[in-house]
Amino acid sequence: MRVFVPILIFAACAWAADANKNAVPTFNHDVAPILYKNCSNCHRPGEVAPFALLTYQDAAKRAQQIADITQARVMPPWKATQGYGDFLDVRRLSDEQIATIREWAAHGAPEGDAAEKPAPPKFASGWLAGQPDQIFKMSQPYTIPAEGADLFRCFVIPLNATQDEYVKTVEFRPGNRKIVHHAIFFLDTTGEARKRETVPGRGYSCVGGPGLDITGSLSGWAPGAQPASARGGVAHTIKKGSDLVMQIHYHLDGRQEQDQSSLGLTFAKEPPTKGLTLYVLGNEHIDIPAGDSHYVVKASGILPMDTQAVAIFPHAHYLCKDMKVDAYLPDGTVKPLIWIKDWDFNWQGAYRYASPVPLPKGTRVEMQYTYDNSANNAHNPSNPPKEVKFGEQTTNEMAFAFISLTLANPSDVAEFRRGTRAEFIASMLENGVDEEALGPQRAASLKMLLAAFDKNKNGKIDPDERDALVQFLIRREERQDRQ
Ligand code: HEC
Repeated sequence: MRVFVPILIFAACAWAADANKNAVPTFNHDVAPILYKNCSNCHRPGEVAPFALLTYQDAAKRAQQIADITQARVMPPWKATQGYGDFLDVRRLSDEQIATIREWAAHGAPEGDAAEKPAPPKFASGWLAGQPDQIFKMSQPYTIPAEGADLFRCFVIPLNATQDEYVKTVEFRPGNRKIVHHAIFFLDTTGEARKRETVPGRGYSCVGGPGLDITGSLSGWAPGAQPASARGGVAHTIKKGSDLVMQIHYHLDGRQEQDQSSLGLTFAKEPPTKGLTLYVLGNEHIDIPAGDSHYVVKASGILPMDTQAVAIFPHAHYLCKDMKVDAYLPDGTVKPLIWIKDWDFNWQGAYRYASPVPLPKGTRVEMQYTYDNSANNAHNPSNPPKEVKFGEQTTNEMAFAFISLTLANPSDVAEFRRGTRAEFIASMLENGVDEEALGPQRAASLKMLLAAFDKNKNGKIDPDERDALVQFLIRREERQDRQ
């Protein structure tokens, strides 16, 4: 008899596991843990999402909507396609989790056993990364009207750095989480932003970017984002005299609201041992005919020295649908940097790589963005569609990929910038001089370069003529930088 005991136990276990698999998912046992981990951070009172997802009642009355929106992968908001870039803080449900929610909704959203009810999540208040060294707050509250289109506003805050400073951790605290949809932090040493903010502290309207050539960036914030600390030997440099330009996207909530947000900075104890630079890949030649549902904008650039990509921030406005950025390494490897197939301007942000992506000298970075300017695009700000050109307004378009790159040494940053400018000009001349697109003045200076470096006189720079031109341009930039 004894010998049967283990077999009986085995059979009972198998039966139990099977019963569990076929059981209808319940809120308490299956769904609550998914929502608490992936949704409640934004879906709770006082946060930017329009309703809470904390109790059984919250979820049950929207069961079908939650099932549909997770199936469509609209929520949780995360735009990067899996397999194209390996990122930190990924907000993505597994196929299994999506199926669990779907089954639960299809069976009438049962609550389940009260004994299995998990405790609702606790959320930290205060600074998530600890007390910052210095806090920069908007100098006065800004009032947001009850109704109207979303607002994009840039606030200028002097950082009062009397020497170059190195920032390790940047943490944003929205003053009013109900309306702050996202924020981006730029640095300006030119004084241009101060000129635009005609009344100090009131900010100025800015949609696409801050409306000026930025001199640096401190990344950005979106609901649910964890504060980012620069990794190993890397730090953001704040140049002496820089202003912080804090661009905030406000989502109106039907009531007049006020906001006074702040940015906390923690400084690095030591100067950085690596260089950090923002590589801007972009194309300003955008002219999308009204009704065109598939307008493609491309750009590419060559990296002039060994780098490592640490983050990417793709940027366009409302018409863009699809964004793809790839790196072609000199050894022939293709490294996908990001692919977004359903771009949504409301959910733009920085994607940080799980580990730095090595991009050696000579790597060609390529972007291809696709725009839909037809009436079928629900995001189209014009109805009927209008011709759309490059620009700062909601009704203009942009095509940029801002890539944060680290370099072996902090002193490499200047050389990297010279190198990218030289590579940019050389790439332009690969196709000769387009006088119409460039205008007479630019065209004339490029023609002089062509006359000197186009050895076989075929009207363009060939691969074997390129290096001499690039070296010349770098030396010319070095002389200009020294002056
Ligand atoms: C990062 C913040 C954030 C997270 C995480 C998040 N949401 Fe949302 N959710 C929002 C915001 C904000 C809105 C309002 C619409 C918008 O701005 O896109 C929204 C809207 C919704 C809507 C209404 C959509 C509509 O069409 O009206 C549903 C349903 C929803 N979320 C469900 C979820 C579920 C389920 C999860 C988790 C699996 C989740 N959300 C995770 C921020 C978030």
